[in-house]
Amino acid sequence: MARYAQIIGWGMCVPDHVLTNDDLSRIVDTSDEWIRTRTGIRERRIVSGETETTSTLAVKAARAALEVANLSPQQLDAVIVATVTPDYPFPATACLVQDRLGAVRASAFDLNAGCSGFVYGLSIGSSLIVSGQADHVLVIGAETLSRITNWNDRDTCVLFGDGAGAVVLAASQTPGGVRATVLGADGSGGDLLILPAGGSRHPASRQTVDDGLHFIHMRGREVFRFATQIMAQAARQVAEQAGWTLDEVSLIIPHQANERVIQSSLGRLKLPPERVFSNLERYGNTSAASIPIALCEAVTEGRIHADDRLILVGFGAGLTWAAAAVQWGVPLPVQPLPWWRRLWRWLIYRGARWRSLALRALRWLAGLLSGPVQHNGWRARLSAWRERRRQASKEPVPPQAPSER
Ligand code: COA
Repeated sequence: MARYAQIIGWGMCVPDHVLTNDDLSRIVDTSDEWIRTRTGIRERRIVSGETETTSTLAVKAARAALEVANLSPQQLDAVIVATVTPDYPFPATACLVQDRLGAVRASAFDLNAGCSGFVYGLSIGSSLIVSGQADHVLVIGAETLSRITNWNDRDTCVLFGDGAGAVVLAASQTPGGVRATVLGADGSGGDLLILPAGGSRHPASRQTVDDGLHFIHMRGREVFRFATQIMAQAARQVAEQAGWTLDEVSLIIPHQANERVIQSSLGRLKLPPERVFSNLERYGNTSAASIPIALCEAVTEGRIHADDRLILVGFGAGLTWAAAAVQWGVPLPVQPLPWWRRLWRWLIYRGARWRSLALRALRWLAGLLSGPVQHNGWRARLSAWRERRRQASKEPVPPQAPSER
């Protein structure tokens, strides 16, 4: 029997702190007027303090998505986090999220495809479901770009913001959900949008910090040109793969990078503005988080209805591009959960935290008990002690027995 990957839950989280264009004009030589006319952005959200990170935003978005889906974290088979700003190079942010949610049965991994990452994740998640390897997959796009932004570089610092968006994909026998995806890459454009240091090419050093190589470096005009061409092309291709004409598409949700990019690329598709969603002016470019955040807001604003045909389309660092054709399967609006179910959910998340602490404590205890008793440890110590004794007595060293090597 055919399996389909339906979106049954969605959620988002943005930091409380708002940074307006006027705020930025007090930091670098720019103006609200320049930023609005060149990008369409008015303000963005920025994480504050060390406690707000990519994983904390991702966890909040994920919990909201699980609540809409009315699904317990234990039912998840996989957690995918698309991000270019993970909490650490490793472990994967997805593992931190999996632990915080208590998604004990789920595999977890990060995915870096720049701003196209969420749609890449949607494609992989739906493939896991359609192939029968998973029944429920959580796909998250989450970023804290403010942490890799050079606040002295007016070319880039006006563009980016922080946030997270998530969807829950579920196996279904009802035709619909993710109907087709198009993924692409052109690594020859990798240097157009790059974080040069911190990897194996330029490991972190005093020099890389002094040279500002841990910040986003971008050649804006070239990225602009690439974006305007590729978004229309990917949207057309995915509609064709799904067997839809563009006239049948109810709403296009493009990556929110620049209003001029959206207008010019989707203008090529000759779609009326009401069929293109934009919330860029409030969040700026949140990279992999931008499409799922826009999807959540499109639902909230009543722009999506059951059976609607949607196209999600993005482009980003890599260079990469991705598009997904989604047939909306859930009747809207979704009824909120009753209070006792919300309480139950709260207890599950509390339980996940205690479980994680208990596992850490057990690991610590096991290390304490088993550490010095290892066979190899004793052998190494014994031969070191014998060596010291020989040195002390200036005895000639006898040839080593094969068993001691
Ligand atoms: N405030 C005021 N002036 C600024 C400025 C700012 N924040 N940033 C750049 N300028 C200046 C430039 O220095 C330049 O001045 P000059 O003509 O004296 O040299 C002038 O504005 C025009 O710069 P330019 O780079 O040609 O502007 P633009 O119209 O191409 O817009 C971007 C710049 C970055 C907004 C635009 O290229 C863009 O959006 N590119 C795509 C970026 C993107 O989407 N990246 C993410 C991909 S996922």
